[in-house]
Amino acid sequence: MPTDVFVEPGDLVIVEGPTFLGVVTRFVYAGARVITIPVDELGMDVDALEVTLSDLKKQGIRPRFIYTITTFHNPTGTTMPLFRRQKLVALAAEYGVLVVEDDAYSVFALPKRNCAPLATLDQDGWVLYVSTFSKIIAPGIRLGWACGDPAIIERLAMFKSEGTVGPRQTR
Ligand SMILES: Cc1ncc(COP(=O)(O)O)c(C=O)c1O
Repeated sequence: MPTDVFVEPGDLVIVEGPTFLGVVTRFVYAGARVITIPVDELGMDVDALEVTLSDLKKQGIRPRFIYTITTFHNPTGTTMPLFRRQKLVALAAEYGVLVVEDDAYSVFALPKRNCAPLATLDQDGWVLYVSTFSKIIAPGIRLGWACGDPAIIERLAMFKSEGTVGPRQTR
């Protein structure tokens, strides 16, 4: 789980508002300060994100990461179109902020409706793609996979080898 590896108390994490409650709970539990970017009918409002990133930069703050559910967003059901995905990846590179792309649901999209994951638009390793078997095998399985910069995957693998394979409710 990226939270256990990346979030230190006091870190700033950007999420969509609203978003998957389960993950916000984890971020808060890990001591993160969470700020939200509104979601409209096209998913995260990336123009609002740009303003926020610019404001934070003026204050000398670099968020730890941006958490986004790009396809079949939980809870709004929206899917971010390509032009927004491209802008989100460009902003990540410009501001040097990791994007954690939670793609739990795109497996259920019709092929023609499916949109390129952010990870496929990312040239510079600013996207960590994560998904889960919970929606395709069984909810209790609590297993998933991640794809991203090798250094990040190595940190996740270290956590995995030290942690348990069962559900983790606490750090
Ligand atoms: C967007 C999203 N990601 C992840 C999960 C859960 O994944 P896991 O069971 O692997 O923790 C859910 C479950 O509701 C979800 O909505």
